[in-house]
Amino acid sequence: MSQPTNDLYGNVVWSSIQYLFVVGILQAFCVLIQYYAFDTSGRRQTNRIRNNLFRAMLQCNVTYFDENQTGRLNSKLFENIEIVGKGIGLDLAQILRSLGKLASSICVAFYGSWQIALIMTYTIPLVIVTGKLFSKAITKETFNEFNAYSKAGHIAQEVFSSVRTVLSFNGAKFAHQQYTQKLEGCQRSSIKKGFVYGLFRGWMYFNLYLTYAVGFLCGLLLMNAKKNLVSLVDILVVVLAFARGIAAFRLVGIFIQSSAEACGAATPAWDFLDNVEAGKSIETGIFEDNNKEKKTSINGNIRFDKVTFTYPTRPDVCVLQNMSLLARAGETTAIVGASGSGKSTLISLLLRFYESTSGQIVINGQSLSNYSVAELRQNIGVVNQEPTLFDTTIYENIRFGKKDASKIEIEEAARLANAHDFIMRLPEKYETVVGERGAQLSGGEKQRIVLARALVKQPQLLLFDEVTSALDRKNEKIVQEALDQACKDRTTIVIAHRLRTIQNANQIYVLDNGTLIEQGTHETLMVIDGGKYQAMFRAQQTKETVYDNDDEMVNKLPEKQLPTTNIDEHPETIFADAKLESLNYVESSVTSQRSIIWRLISMNKLQWIPILIGGLACTCIGAVEPTFAVALSFIINESDNNDFSSSHIDYVRDCLSV
Ligand SMILES: Nc1ncnc2c1ncn2[C@@H]1O[C@H](COP(=O)(O)OP(=O)(O)O)[C@@H](O)[C@H]1O
Ligand SMILES: [Mg+2]
Repeated sequence: MSQPTNDLYGNVVWSSIQYLFVVGILQAFCVLIQYYAFDTSGRRQTNRIRNNLFRAMLQCNVTYFDENQTGRLNSKLFENIEIVGKGIGLDLAQILRSLGKLASSICVAFYGSWQIALIMTYTIPLVIVTGKLFSKAITKETFNEFNAYSKAGHIAQEVFSSVRTVLSFNGAKFAHQQYTQKLEGCQRSSIKKGFVYGLFRGWMYFNLYLTYAVGFLCGLLLMNAKKNLVSLVDILVVVLAFARGIAAFRLVGIFIQSSAEACGAATPAWDFLDNVEAGKSIETGIFEDNNKEKKTSINGNIRFDKVTFTYPTRPDVCVLQNMSLLARAGETTAIVGASGSGKSTLISLLLRFYESTSGQIVINGQSLSNYSVAELRQNIGVVNQEPTLFDTTIYENIRFGKKDASKIEIEEAARLANAHDFIMRLPEKYETVVGERGAQLSGGEKQRIVLARALVKQPQLLLFDEVTSALDRKNEKIVQEALDQACKDRTTIVIAHRLRTIQNANQIYVLDNGTLIEQGTHETLMVIDGGKYQAMFRAQQTKETVYDNDDEMVNKLPEKQLPTTNIDEHPETIFADAKLESLNYVESSVTSQRSIIWRLISMNKLQWIPILIGGLACTCIGAVEPTFAVALSFIINESDNNDFSSSHIDYVRDCLSV
């Protein structure tokens, strides 16, 4: 490479190189800061929103969960926040960058020729106002799209979480149809959003060429009207600067879409947070320190005093009417009655999931509302018919009852719940992971772990809601022994379907259709001729003789012949299949990787009409720029004939050739 001979030329080149070098370093540094700062702030913000939402969801009254599908809540409130994060993170940075470009372009234009620039400023309000209108429309469509997707997501979640029920009822086709139907709704919303967004982009392109047209027209008119006021270079500087500005705003458009999407996605989240703040939640104080609450011990007689209750979601059905009953401290009280008679509702009221419509519940002489929900629940141990376990170790599942429980306390609770021996027989003992909803344990085992979880916090009050009703006779016996052991010296309310399990209760209440119809001990109730309890007990006795025989039959079968259809009880079969499937997957994934592009293309076969039309539109867009160059060369040639200085023309030609 030859050295510059001219000093001045050498200096200019050298300082330009220095300038470019410094600009390069500065640019690199600013880009680093931009990405780091906006990404970090975006992440922090989304995590904060997620945290607030999670907290708010837990503070909702149970009624909220009765009314809303949890799957939809999850996608509405958590997945969408990812989109919010994108909108307030890097995309926001791009908007600021593009706005900076717009502002600097306008400055350059005014520097070129303030007269033409002034005329061209009409574009600014036009572009900003329409941009805002479009952004509003896109937000609306995005909101609809999210709603549609969360509906489809809810179906998928429900189907896959109960896949065994779906398959056993041959419901796969029906479930698939429902999912497809919801997906069609999503597609409609997405297409509508795409149309609005395309309209916006098209409008911005139109504005770009309008800018060229108006700029050249006004510039040339001004030039003809008054020589030396503006030159062709000035016109070009202004027009190109404004065009750059609009192009920058077009880029803003891309990010306006993502910030509009962010707004659309954030709307349900803010609505939810506002509602929780405005609503009268019973769930106050649930985030207070549990250990502190432990100091308050609640024990004594539990009295339902003329309690009437209607579920907020079904205001026309009175579930409990004028219910009065007493559960004495340290004794076992049983509640029996037909399904739907309101037994579980009594427990929900006692746990303050709902507030009674009238009447009151009193514990130890104090109305339930005088206790905070946290201290109340701290003193109550509940076991339901459906054992709910989390997908973690047995230790952690039991520890959920008392967060600071030591291993010794946990094992003690497990012994009390008749669970220790079977846990010790598991390969990983207390470290065994139980699978989703305890899928790797049998029903009886799950119930005993749940009982241990209720006992580990050493509650004063125990509530058992049909704990053994889903178990076979053998498991029922083991769990029942554990329950009997646990209720000793505790105030216990037992809801039972099988009456033989509550014969020894100190007091039995019989409910029918939300009202109390009989009360007494097993012996006193059995002597009421024509009484409901007596009838229920006798009916069950006859039934159980038949069932007992069936149980015995099963027990007598040699092990090989035991029915193995219940996958819940035999998790290893599922895992064996899962392993095989995963092997097949590894093999097939190699081949599918190779053909993946062709598969995608062939899947698009059905879409050839929109793809063809879209392709033609893309080609036309591509052809616009060269056409514009031709139009511009005409303008310059015309100006050439209008005796402009040749240096100007050369400059413009240079510009266009770049
Ligand atoms: N979350 C709820 N929302 C509305 N109605 C409910 C709800 N839970 C139960 N019910 C209704 O209340 C009545 C009593 O239910 P429940 O107390 O569960 O009866 P039981 O436990 O005696 O079988 C039933 O008619 C049931 O349909
Ligand atoms: Mg019930």
